[in-house]
Amino acid sequence: MKIHLAFDVYGTLVDPQGMVDHLRADAGEQADQVSQLWRQKQLEFAFRRGLMRMYEDFGICTRQALRYAMASYGFDLEPAREEDLMQAYLSLPAFADAGPALASLNGYHPCYAFSNGSHPALEKVLGHNRLLEYLDGLVSVDDIKSFKPDPAVYAHARRATGAMDEPLCLISSNGWDVIGARASGLMAIWVQRDPVTVFEDWGLAPTAIIRSLQELPDTLARFD
Ligand code: LAC
Repeated sequence: MKIHLAFDVYGTLVDPQGMVDHLRADAGEQADQVSQLWRQKQLEFAFRRGLMRMYEDFGICTRQALRYAMASYGFDLEPAREEDLMQAYLSLPAFADAGPALASLNGYHPCYAFSNGSHPALEKVLGHNRLLEYLDGLVSVDDIKSFKPDPAVYAHARRATGAMDEPLCLISSNGWDVIGARASGLMAIWVQRDPVTVFEDWGLAPTAIIRSLQELPDTLARFD
């Protein structure tokens, strides 16, 4: 049975902490903390918008979180500078293992990006990193106007990837995303990018844990 693969994007294929270098001009030595708060709030805002049924493009969550993170650390954010940073977000760097892993899976497993990001944002960031050519398609939550980890989003991923009778496996470094996928009956492989990150114990274990995307071909072979 051919396992279909749905790759999370931010944190799994591309690195949101790539914004630290850009933020250095605004936040100096606190660029790292601002970037982390930015990411944390971006996700929290998406979770809350999902629950409040106040869906907006993920880019709005990103923009509001940027404003919040900068203000929290007492930094000004001029509109033109905000725009620059939002533009830079569209060309976040890929993790080094993303391209080689997708290239090695290409032709063996149907591979999709599956993200909170909108189609235009995904096309830009994945195109910038030359990852689009290895993907069979993009699945955005924007199609159904909700956010991960709404079960409706994982059900949409099944339909959009055509994995109705075949297994669909999420590949994500975001533990909460893996838990959301497992709760919705998907396979889900957790990419433990940082060895000190603990997987939350919700009684919904990942199907497998890997340290690098390049472990995927061997890991998936175990399930064939
Ligand atoms: C995504 C974010 C949530 O790409 O990481 O869906």
